[in-house]
Amino acid sequence: MNTDVIILAAGKGSRMKSKLPKVLQPLAGQPLLAHVLHTAALLENASINIVIGHAAEQIETVFSDASVTWIRQLEQLGTGHAAQQALPVLDKRGVSLILYGDVPLIKRSTLETLIQTAEQGDIALLTVKLDNPSGYGRIIRDNAHCVTAIIEQKEASPEQLAIQEVNTGIMALPTESLHRYLPKLSNDNAQHEYYLTDIIAMANQENTRVSAYCLEDETEVAGINDKKQLADLERRYQLAVASELMDQGVTLSDPHRIDVRGFVSAGSDVSIDVNCVFKGMVELGDNVQIDANCIIGVIGKTTSIAANTHIKPNTIIEEAILGEFCEIGPYARLRPGTELANKVKIGNFVETKKVSIGLGSKVSHLSYIGDAALGEAVNIGAGTITCNYDGVNKHKTSIGDDVFVGSNTSIVAPVTIHDEATIAAGSTITQNVNEKALAVSRQRQKNIDNWPRPTKED
Ligand code: UD1
Ligand code: CA
Repeated sequence: MNTDVIILAAGKGSRMKSKLPKVLQPLAGQPLLAHVLHTAALLENASINIVIGHAAEQIETVFSDASVTWIRQLEQLGTGHAAQQALPVLDKRGVSLILYGDVPLIKRSTLETLIQTAEQGDIALLTVKLDNPSGYGRIIRDNAHCVTAIIEQKEASPEQLAIQEVNTGIMALPTESLHRYLPKLSNDNAQHEYYLTDIIAMANQENTRVSAYCLEDETEVAGINDKKQLADLERRYQLAVASELMDQGVTLSDPHRIDVRGFVSAGSDVSIDVNCVFKGMVELGDNVQIDANCIIGVIGKTTSIAANTHIKPNTIIEEAILGEFCEIGPYARLRPGTELANKVKIGNFVETKKVSIGLGSKVSHLSYIGDAALGEAVNIGAGTITCNYDGVNKHKTSIGDDVFVGSNTSIVAPVTIHDEATIAAGSTITQNVNEKALAVSRQRQKNIDNWPRPTKED
């Protein structure tokens, strides 16, 4: 059976006090709505419909690659009204699943349970028990414990306000019933809104069964209205990721001090020190060690670090591929397009970009190596710079195997330095260097013996 997912995301989210629409606020580096979309996309035979209103164009632009149907709700007249806007595109033979753009951590398994229940003709309602139910719709049950209605906070009597079981808003039901109930909603209530929740009482009147699933853990259904809730959910999310990594055998110095904005896959015996941030897809091989304060990866890209490589403190690695047994940092910056073979050493204050570096080569201190290919067993002395940019174009530097570049060399690209060449320290290299040659390009030293130092006159 086909499932029509309807994600409600038309609200303004004024409590965020932000120019960025609420569903675009980031959780773990991704817009809130991206989390919901990602989970919805895992459901089988599902079409995704998103109801938007506030900042609609901006939201559509961010998700222009997503295969979804956008539905406009021009005025925000309530959740029932929002769902009504989707009616024309829904498949009457299937079931509908209502989700919220600001409830990001809902789990696929929970949604599958709701869908299966709706496929049998019931209304499947997701509820949760809260210590402080204030603000939520309360779940009303009869003596037989069956759900008969949802009463919104503003409509509830004092006895009803004491009920701790609340409506998460998430539900699944046969689309054909949605078609029958939604046109009958009225806004004759305290907020003059069309409440989607009123369909529960309608279902009860026609003896349609409402099956409520009460969750134990509220994190899954926590909605976000303000920055405090956003930060709180971010911490809960990160702690859950840390816990998963530890379950897989990763050693974390402090599970409260790691941030994963994407996905980390780790081999065995990986260890990660405090305050590391991982972005996008990051692959860590066996025995990879990451010291404190490293930032690794780029959102939407893959970064991989092969087995036994050691990343020392305060290193930044963006979209790079690192071989085995490399030593990187402290204070290194590997920019996009950096590809290191095995046993490469990159030391402190070295920046690399679009460069491939061969087996066992070393760039140990204070260098910039960009748009370059280095062979095996190359040694780049401290302070060496590839001058790759002439103000208009980028040019390439090629360095063969076993080349020794003395300290403080400027390599003006395009240029090729062939195998086993040696570059004297302090050279500015503008011409190709032959195999096994020595290139020196600097003024000869002149010594003046017995030179009288200036003295102070008193
Ligand atoms: C709603 C439920 C309440 C539930 C709570 C859970 C109703 C009437 N009440 O209340 O029972 O406990 O969620 O958080 O459904 N939206 C639109 N268009 C609108 C109105 C809302 O798209 O016209 C979207 C909002 O962007 C938001 C979601 O629907 O993502 C919920 O709207 P909100 O106004 O926050 O509903 P609540 O009053 O919190
Ligand atoms: Ca809300």
